[in-house]
Amino acid sequence: MIILGIESSCDETAAAVLADGKLLSNLIATQAIHQQYGGVVPELASRAHQEKIVPVVQAAIAEAGITLQDLDGIAVTNGPGLLGALLVGASFAKGLALALQIPLVGVNHTQGHILSHFLTEPAPKFPFLCLTVSGGHTQLVVVRSPLDMEIIGQTEDDAAGEAFDKAAKLLGLPYPGGPLIDQYAQSGNPKAFQFPKGNMEGYNYSFSGIKTAIMYFLQKQDPEFIQANMADICASIQHTLVETLLTKLKLAIKETGIKEVAIAGGVAANSGLRQSLQLLRDTMGLNLYIPPFAYCTDNAAMIAMAGHLLLLDGRDDGQNLDVSPNLKY
Ligand code: KG4
Ligand code: ZN
Repeated sequence: MIILGIESSCDETAAAVLADGKLLSNLIATQAIHQQYGGVVPELASRAHQEKIVPVVQAAIAEAGITLQDLDGIAVTNGPGLLGALLVGASFAKGLALALQIPLVGVNHTQGHILSHFLTEPAPKFPFLCLTVSGGHTQLVVVRSPLDMEIIGQTEDDAAGEAFDKAAKLLGLPYPGGPLIDQYAQSGNPKAFQFPKGNMEGYNYSFSGIKTAIMYFLQKQDPEFIQANMADICASIQHTLVETLLTKLKLAIKETGIKEVAIAGGVAANSGLRQSLQLLRDTMGLNLYIPPFAYCTDNAAMIAMAGHLLLLDGRDDGQNLDVSPNLKY
């Protein structure tokens, strides 16, 4: 079964080809235009998707060494995400599926992030806990099967990636600042400055209080101090965000008894989070699954993999497929 996966929910136009669960190609066109605005501009994202979708799909098909006629199905992200951006991918996918007379399935983007774990070996064993941390989402999910997932905790305000990016913006770093905080943090002292951890009920997260605390802290310092202590400040911010994420994960591991633990999403690339998780693995006796970097950030391989599993399950959304910016599961 050869599947074309398409992802256009935010600022990456991506296409991938998967044959019987094996990846043949995985291409991403990143939209550099947003950098000058300090964040993703929805209208510019839609326009860039329109320009890029045909060449990216064509290149993914060519790199896979197949033709469009070889496709057995198409999977496309239908939410959550930016409405206009989602519509570009979904409309294109609908047209192509109609022309080729093949099934079409819509994929929930955050479920796609979780299913990226099935692109590599060994995959987590069911049931597993997945901490999905990206620019748009922070979710703690119990995954019982590829299609049976339950969100047990989520953010009540900012997503983890958003918290990294907003903190970076306060520090005067360019967008997206998450990776830059990570870079500075490598040579800093994580205990140099104290910020309050987000503390919500149950498994839910909150990052807005941390952001406000960072803002007030920075307002009190002069620019020279901030510049001179950039590494320590970044390390302390990263430490606070990672600790906040791990407190709820630890609680979930204890209360569910599940020791198969996975992370997904762009923030899974964070070196502080990876190190703390590895420590947790050793102390709690976990099996820990961290995807390769290319599958952490937005990509179409994960959408194709989700499509593979959905099509095997007999799903076909066909021309009824709709997009939803707040798609739930
Ligand atoms: O999953 P992703 O590529 O896109 C969304 O679906 O949102 O995640 C992007 C987010 C951004 O907020 C970015 O700053 C963050 O992931 N990120 C990082 C790192 N690499 C990417 N945050 C902290 N440390 C990193 N190394
Ligand atoms: Zn994502």
